[in-house]
Amino acid sequence: MTQDKRLGVCVIGCGRAGMIHARNYAGGVRGARLVALCDSSADNLRAAASELGVEKTYSDYRDVMADPDVDAVVVVTPTGMHCHVVKAAAKAGKHVFCEKPMATSAAECDEMISVCKNAGVKLQIGFMRRFDKSFRHAKEVIDSGQIGDVTLIKSLTHGPSEPKEWMFDISRSSGPIGEVNSHDFDTLRWYADSEVKTIHAIGHNFRSPERAEEYPDYYDTVAVLLEFENGVIGMVDGAQYVQYGYDARAEVLGTKGNVCVGAQNADSVVVARAGMTLSSAAMPSWRTLFRDAYAEEARSFVRCVLDDVEPEVTGYDGKMALILVRDGLRSLLEHRPIAVEA
Ligand SMILES: NC(=O)c1ccc[n+]([C@@H]2O[C@H](COP(=O)([O-])OP(=O)(O)OC[C@H]3O[C@@H](n4cnc5c(N)ncnc54)[C@H](O)[C@@H]3O)[C@@H](O)[C@H]2O)c1
Repeated sequence: MTQDKRLGVCVIGCGRAGMIHARNYAGGVRGARLVALCDSSADNLRAAASELGVEKTYSDYRDVMADPDVDAVVVVTPTGMHCHVVKAAAKAGKHVFCEKPMATSAAECDEMISVCKNAGVKLQIGFMRRFDKSFRHAKEVIDSGQIGDVTLIKSLTHGPSEPKEWMFDISRSSGPIGEVNSHDFDTLRWYADSEVKTIHAIGHNFRSPERAEEYPDYYDTVAVLLEFENGVIGMVDGAQYVQYGYDARAEVLGTKGNVCVGAQNADSVVVARAGMTLSSAAMPSWRTLFRDAYAEEARSFVRCVLDDVEPEVTGYDGKMALILVRDGLRSLLEHRPIAVEA
């Protein structure tokens, strides 16, 4: 730890998600301070440093590792770089927060977990729904036994935007199962308190038929059925390019009750007009819906380092979500249920 006694943080990767983390740390996370930024793009680095008033910048993540002011790194590079950056950070004794998806394979996850463990540094993965007030409240209700035993968990995520070019190539993106549903898989594991035994996914391309010739495996809508080791049934659906807004909801059915999380509305305002119509604004983005969750996630990471306790979302959680994305995609492409192999 630096003499300042606060955790010195460097955000590596200052793109869409990186700037959420960087702004949170720059705005003040108790016990931490943003000491540096790193990005391989000179333009992104310059823009981030000037917006946040951060003086120390790095264009190569390897140089961050030699900086004694940096106690922890927040890894928000494209997913393919996560394993390299996390291993370098851990070997340099830096604590690690790594965005989801944790890596590109289960083998990479194992490496990252083992390097962090051997170096004695924390490793937390970016499933921010676990820090969302409503998702947490539902977890407390489930654990309190108010709805009896959990029987069925449904979770959905729909994204509004047109897919970027690389997302049509599912060997690179995994499609919506990877792009949006890894969060749902994590929520299901968290609520079910169990691991998945079998997974069956069905998907189709409904909104971009003009891309079907070039990308025959691309799908924009998927339904996934999961069976947990403890008998709980899971249902997940995912969609990209829905255009109506960002939509993330969950529902848990117990033997004695039910708990629902989330709504489609941006806020609680509903306008009633003549003609008997009701209208309400839709949620524009994950950045808006989970703004507070990202801030709480950062506070939790800093607390886990300073208090030397286990992160609330571990490398193992990151690995298990990745395995469900992998086996879900296999099921979709092979048109059959798959026995999940951890
Ligand atoms: N928790 C969430 O809900 C959530 C949301 C969005 C993205 N993500 C994840 O965050 C990561 C980043 O996604 P994004 O949408 O912000 O991407 P992005 O393309 O907007 O940003 C990535 C940034 O990393 C920089 N970069 C690339 N290679 C680098 C390197 N070797 N060293 C340093 N910087 C490098 C790029 O220049 C860019 O600024 C991905 O893993 C993504 O899946 C998570």
